[in-house]
Amino acid sequence: MKRIVVLTSGGDAPGMNPAIRAVVRSAIYHGMEVYGAYHGYHGLMNGDLLRMDLGSVGDIIHRGGTMLYSARSEEFKTAAGRERAMEVCHQHGIEGLVVIGGDGSFRGAHALAELGLHTVGIPGTIDNDIAGTDFTIGFHTAVNTVLDAIDKIRDTATSHERTYVIETMGRNAGDIALWAGLAGGAETIIIPEKQEPFEQIIERLLHGHKRGKKHSIIIVAEGVGKGDDFAKRIQEETGFETRVTVLGYIQRGGSPTAYDRVLASRLGGYAVQLLMEGKSDVMVGIQQNQLMVTPFLQSFEDVHQIDDSMYELAKILSI
Ligand code: F6P
Repeated sequence: MKRIVVLTSGGDAPGMNPAIRAVVRSAIYHGMEVYGAYHGYHGLMNGDLLRMDLGSVGDIIHRGGTMLYSARSEEFKTAAGRERAMEVCHQHGIEGLVVIGGDGSFRGAHALAELGLHTVGIPGTIDNDIAGTDFTIGFHTAVNTVLDAIDKIRDTATSHERTYVIETMGRNAGDIALWAGLAGGAETIIIPEKQEPFEQIIERLLHGHKRGKKHSIIIVAEGVGKGDDFAKRIQEETGFETRVTVLGYIQRGGSPTAYDRVLASRLGGYAVQLLMEGKSDVMVGIQQNQLMVTPFLQSFEDVHQIDDSMYELAKILSI
């Protein structure tokens, strides 16, 4: 493998920059040439490429976002779009692709592998919703961002003796809500993977109130519905003054935590190693702190599981 291209695709996540840095520097170290494609697959299809050297990835290890920009491309989902991407690769002598992104990005990489390009995926999304890895790049930082918000909201919740509903991102996955909720001492965590009857949630809130709790924090993952709707129902059924905060895109930004930088660096180096070994159509991941390889097709079939015991523990600790 002499020449590869790296791109970031889908929703950005803190840690994508250190992942790009690790891919570029590892590849150059091993004697390869590296291109970066701007705006994900869109840039690859249009030949919007940057020839990268060691200095191109200097001073980005601590920055959120992605220096290569990111996009979701509808055109790339068509056969014609993918053929165009392959043509660009042929024109530039590119034999390998590293894609940093989520499930949708990996489906694109799988399609290109079927057309003959060597592809490796690095899981980069705040959602932590990819099978084949315990953690995705960006998740850890997003949880810390949510936690910081919970701590701040707790201050005002205490002062005003109110109930607060905090809506988190995560698409169809509840990991951000679960981890931040457990770390932030939330009374209730509502996530798509666990359907707790609403009456039970109300019962727990009333029980807490009876034993002297003056305020409550409820985390709602976006995958179960709108925080606003939950807040209205809670106020109606408990009579507690309830406010809502939708955290939104702040969860996607910020300087990556040490964990995310280390994870990104390890996965980036490993992705390059796999390309050198001739591997393709696979994603890299981390399981119990070991670097792992999973075929894309396997990761599409499997479902990332939340840790049930954490969910139960959060309930016990909020009595
Ligand atoms: O996948 C990351 C994510 O931030 C999800 O948590 C969220 O549902 C979605 O992206 C938002 O996507 P967009 O950037 O297209 O609004």
